[in-house]
Amino acid sequence: MSLRRILRRIKIFDTTLRDGEQCPGASMNKEEKLTVARQLAKLNVDIIEAGFPIASEDDFEGVKLIAQEVKGSVIAGLARARKEDIERAADAVSSAERSRIHTFIATSEIHMLRKLKMSREEVLEAAVAAVKIARQFTDDVEFSAEDASRSDMDFLCTVIEAAIKAGAATINIPDTVGYALPAEFGELISQIINKVPNIDKAVISVHCHNDLGLAVANSLSAVLAGAGQVECTINGIGERAGNASLEEVVMALKTRGQFFNADTNINTHEIYKASRMVSTITGMVVQPNKAIVGANAFAHEAGIHQDGLLKDKRTYEIMTPESVGISTHKLVLGKHSGRHAFKNKLSEMGFSLTDEEINKAFERFKRVADQKKEVFEEDIDAIVTDEIYRIPERYVLKHIYVESGSDTTPTATVELEIEGTSIKNVSAGDGPVDATYRTIKTITETASHLLSYEVKAITGGTDAFGEVTVRLEEGGRTVVGQGADTDIIVASAKAYLNALNRLAYKKGGVKY
Ligand code: KIV
Ligand code: ZN
Repeated sequence: MSLRRILRRIKIFDTTLRDGEQCPGASMNKEEKLTVARQLAKLNVDIIEAGFPIASEDDFEGVKLIAQEVKGSVIAGLARARKEDIERAADAVSSAERSRIHTFIATSEIHMLRKLKMSREEVLEAAVAAVKIARQFTDDVEFSAEDASRSDMDFLCTVIEAAIKAGAATINIPDTVGYALPAEFGELISQIINKVPNIDKAVISVHCHNDLGLAVANSLSAVLAGAGQVECTINGIGERAGNASLEEVVMALKTRGQFFNADTNINTHEIYKASRMVSTITGMVVQPNKAIVGANAFAHEAGIHQDGLLKDKRTYEIMTPESVGISTHKLVLGKHSGRHAFKNKLSEMGFSLTDEEINKAFERFKRVADQKKEVFEEDIDAIVTDEIYRIPERYVLKHIYVESGSDTTPTATVELEIEGTSIKNVSAGDGPVDATYRTIKTITETASHLLSYEVKAITGGTDAFGEVTVRLEEGGRTVVGQGADTDIIVASAKAYLNALNRLAYKKGGVKY
């Protein structure tokens, strides 16, 4: 018997587009959600939770679009244990190849008493009714006992048993507030398996939040105890401190498959691209030391480590960067590469773009290839994310000219197009970026405050692509913007404008 056959296959339920999108500043429009969902399908995630359809018209439309367009994965919609929520979710996922309705109600005393103002009996009744209503639309119904890890064990087991009897095929055990500890959470799953008589009729799922930094550890402990599905998000984004990170759960199971006696169906080579895409689209920057996808995850600094690696990579590497789709600065194209070669490279890298998008990306590639001697896969990745995965713009950068040096006051002249009208201005500043930002602030008359500004080089060398990330706040709303260019001042201007465009979108200033 092959090794693969004897490993338990753990289902990966991705909730980047629902719980992930709930984190401050990470909201996506429906086209962006579709782009991410397509990448999740390439990753082979078993279930994509595409949104919470009753939450807003935009959410409904996003789930509907994904259900229509994305094949391969089950498409799920979230619903509270209420008829109108379930019907809305059912409508949104109805055109999916395979659909799931995920309904939930809280089972902890604090949530029932203070939030729901419902008795145990009322919660039990609502849970059963919700599963039965959902089953009228699909056989694939998931029930979540929100705040399960802080619920009374006997009551939790009663609700689970009743939900399975009503037709739930998956029972999700959330650690909603990230309170559980790994040994304790594993024990909770074991107890559910021992105490719920019909538990063999359902898959046990876990959904862990990261408030104590234990979301991945708790999820893995649950897998050891018998959970068959893990809910997670790309880069671990989500409410507050986030959710269990998909890439960490998947690579732990892959790297230590023998220990867990488990594996997933994930195409790990698509992980890095998914991480970059989610980071660019949401503006949620990945910390450099983040496991699996951080910039330093495979960087070896110490001499002893480098020496060991040269002798045998396995001395300091428990998995390869290639296994998660990180290319190690592969030179791909140059100044003389034509559109055909560029198009082939894009499809080799897994991008499926329309002809119009290819043309747009190719024009930018030509400009970059003129400036840079060598163009790497990472540069192409940056070009595509910068040119294609961008929200429609209220503020379009037309020109920028900056004067700066040791003996001159930095000044920036910027020309923007705003709703078809060109506006030009000039300002001085403490440095070239400050001058640029002052000019943009004057032209756009923005009331937002700059909370942070970060710059990083995508490839090595002074001609590298620089990627700038800014965080802005206005009226309690936080947004993040990113921009990439070989000129760091241009990248800075783009990042600022990207954030301002996100603010405009959130205020409803741009129609999609
Ligand atoms: O954290 C949580 O409890 C949730 C549920 C809706 C599954 O997100
Ligand atoms: Zn959650």
